[in-house]
Amino acid sequence: METPRTPSPAERPLEIVPSVLPADFSRLGDEVVALAKAGVDRIQWDVMDGRFVPNLTFGPDVIASCRPHVTVPFEAHLMVDDPDALMHRYVEAGCELLIVHAESTRHLHRSLGRAAELGARAAVALNPATPATAVANVLDLCSMVLVMTVNPGFGGQDYIATMEPKITQVRAMIAEGGHDCDVEVDGGISPATVRGAARAGANVLVAGSALYRDPVGLEHAVTELRDLATATRQPTQGA
Ligand code: DX5
Repeated sequence: METPRTPSPAERPLEIVPSVLPADFSRLGDEVVALAKAGVDRIQWDVMDGRFVPNLTFGPDVIASCRPHVTVPFEAHLMVDDPDALMHRYVEAGCELLIVHAESTRHLHRSLGRAAELGARAAVALNPATPATAVANVLDLCSMVLVMTVNPGFGGQDYIATMEPKITQVRAMIAEGGHDCDVEVDGGISPATVRGAARAGANVLVAGSALYRDPVGLEHAVTELRDLATATRQPTQGA
């Protein structure tokens, strides 16, 4: 049987994933419906425990209350000190993808395996200071690597462009190993920064404030990011 060919970066589906952090928390059900109508590919819940990051956000019950409102997949970005203790609750709440920070667990390989045991897709996230090599030995367990382009904990921060070489390095490690794995970026993604991230090799783009501050609206913001990233991945005429 012929070995399945790993899609090249340009062939991986481009996904726009909103962060719910800038949304109106007093009516989250309506907010996720509006995001689904805007054509997003998945919704990211930024789960913060006030310890791993200096902020506190969504418990599993909040997410579970929004689950019946939309069919768009949910991912939980676990910015928590003890992901193993909480993972099952976020799967029960309806998250099909769990993102574990490499810096948050002593046994990253075990934590990613645990996510898969729970029936979720597993992903690993890297803080800006953490080198790409930190995930070299767990790529076979991951369907995605998240390269943070801000220091986690808050929305509305500036994009750290010096993360682009790391995005490219992670993408190269995935290709070299023949892994079926996406590269996600998160933090400061906007029309001004999305091309740099896509050119570097990211195919999943998380955006928060850039979507909610668009004067035309969410749908326009999502389409604009998708079009800019897609154009960046197209081979230039006469190239
Ligand atoms: C930060 C979060 C991000 C953030 C993105 O810790 O992980 O998802 O909400 O927001 P913007 O796009 O405003 O940087």
